[in-house]
Amino acid sequence: MASLGINIDHIATLRQARRTVEPDPVQYALLAELGGADGITAHLREDRRHIQDRDIELLRATLRSRLNLEMAATEEMVSIALRVMPDMVTLVPEQRQEVTTEGGLDVLANLEALRRDVDRLQEGGVPVSLFVDAELPQLEASRRCGARWVELHTGCYAAARGPRQVRELARLSSGCRIAAALGLRVNAGHGLTYRNVEPVAGLPHMEELNIGHTVIARSVAVGLTQAVRELKALIQNPRSDPLFG
Ligand code: PXP
Repeated sequence: MASLGINIDHIATLRQARRTVEPDPVQYALLAELGGADGITAHLREDRRHIQDRDIELLRATLRSRLNLEMAATEEMVSIALRVMPDMVTLVPEQRQEVTTEGGLDVLANLEALRRDVDRLQEGGVPVSLFVDAELPQLEASRRCGARWVELHTGCYAAARGPRQVRELARLSSGCRIAAALGLRVNAGHGLTYRNVEPVAGLPHMEELNIGHTVIARSVAVGLTQAVRELKALIQNPRSDPLFG
């Protein structure tokens, strides 16, 4: 059964809109844990547009579940990760102009540089996951990099409709099988919602889904603890074929 990582960046985005102290993503992370979150994901971006360094440090000190630090593969971020010691680092591509992460890492094109960062992190005791598209060359390159995990990019699946969505789901499914055959453990995320999460939760070898926007959006109506509880129920007991249901 897949577990649930809650991405709390959007709480920090609201706080930074006024550059004040509320809402505090650290407090809301604890509410997400109360709702059943198995982990908390926070993306410390180079421009600090939402999560701040202090958030990461307080999350590390207060979480009872796991801390997944999402970050770009830069010298500054690697140093922060080795100091804070999250339970996992997920390396993502980062561009300043983007609204959110726009695609998977090109591991193949950046193999040597990524391998150095993966080695430093993992030798320092932090397991590394690479955020990649579900494609054979990227998965093979992830393995060659030495990463222990991959997070499959579900954005194309989430954006697709009808038969195209079925094809994207099949692509994710074969990505899971390939990753597992290569000895990689598998997470997934990006764009997942209450409506589209179940087929992904039911994929073979799927260990954790990282979900942010939809659950923070729903929390405005029902509170974060309840919103997480509802999402977790879908993930724990996914219907087998809800796409055309
Ligand atoms: N996984 C990764 C690597 C991401 O960059 C994001 C967005 O920050 C997520 C998961 C969560 O995406 P969403 O907010 O669309 O659920």
